[in-house]
Amino acid sequence: MDLTGRVAIVTGASSGIGAATAKLFAAHGALLTIVGRNEARLLAVAEACERAKGHKPVCAMLDLTLENSCEEVVRKTVETYSKLDMLVNCAGKAMLTSLFDMSMTVFDELVALNMRVPYKLTQHCVPHLKRTKGHIVNVVPAPMRSRPGFLPYAMIRDAMDRFTKAAVLELAPEGVRINAVRPGITRTNLLSNLNVDDDMMDDAYDTLSKVLPNSVILEPEEIAKTILFTVSDMCPNLNGSNIVIDGAASVY
Ligand SMILES: NC(=O)c1ccc[n+]([C@@H]2O[C@H](COP(=O)([O-])OP(=O)(O)OC[C@H]3O[C@@H](n4cnc5c(N)ncnc54)[C@H](OP(=O)(O)O)[C@@H]3O)[C@@H](O)[C@H]2O)c1
Repeated sequence: MDLTGRVAIVTGASSGIGAATAKLFAAHGALLTIVGRNEARLLAVAEACERAKGHKPVCAMLDLTLENSCEEVVRKTVETYSKLDMLVNCAGKAMLTSLFDMSMTVFDELVALNMRVPYKLTQHCVPHLKRTKGHIVNVVPAPMRSRPGFLPYAMIRDAMDRFTKAAVLELAPEGVRINAVRPGITRTNLLSNLNVDDDMMDDAYDTLSKVLPNSVILEPEEIAKTILFTVSDMCPNLNGSNIVIDGAASVY
């Protein structure tokens, strides 16, 4: 799959699925803006991308939930490359809360990052994507059974599914495609936000894998390949779809 000269914004690119996607896109010739807050990690990904084909990515080191961040990412990208072909909405986090916690802090934080940011970034990218007949990929958790503590995370996941399906009605007439890639449990830094210590991470994944049909925790590189396939020209009518890649974890 050849992405030579195609311009992509990848959010969440300092870690996990976004980092793997940025590196894979770079290896296939894409020109990138990579977004994250952790400087050391983002720069390490930028170096890996540059090593692939010699193209230094634009590094947008910012908190996407802050006012004007989304605009800034799109502005920097178009200023640098004069166009935009792809947006990969991958920044996100998981946090625990429940109906019995009367504070709205976690709920609001999850909505701000996992739902408002992709919506807003999409808004700002669409004028440019219309020109290139471009593509948006939302990384949305697979439709696995929800668990107590993950109520807002599950609500947002389902809202993002609806976002993908409803947005396609507005974007398809403009020639812009939008799809969701929906991973199951994937080995990334996501669990750190759930207060799993680094030295307990392997045990945590081991426990999680036991409830999965094929007992496999996915690696971010496999999700990145699915995202690459989605934006490729192999299936030009792949649009408004949910591509679930979860080792059958959501089959219940
Ligand atoms: N891992 C899984 O099992 C799994 C399964 C299904 C779906 N997903 C989804 O996949 C996406 C990527 O998650 P991951 O598993 O790759 O997790 P991860 O390794 O923790 O990566 C999360 C990324 O989001 C970025 N991010 C977080 N808050 C941000 C903010 N306020 N502003 C800008 N960037 C921010 C992080 O950047 P910094 O660290 O630099 O802030 C990091 O690059 C998420 O939407 C997640 O819900 C994950």
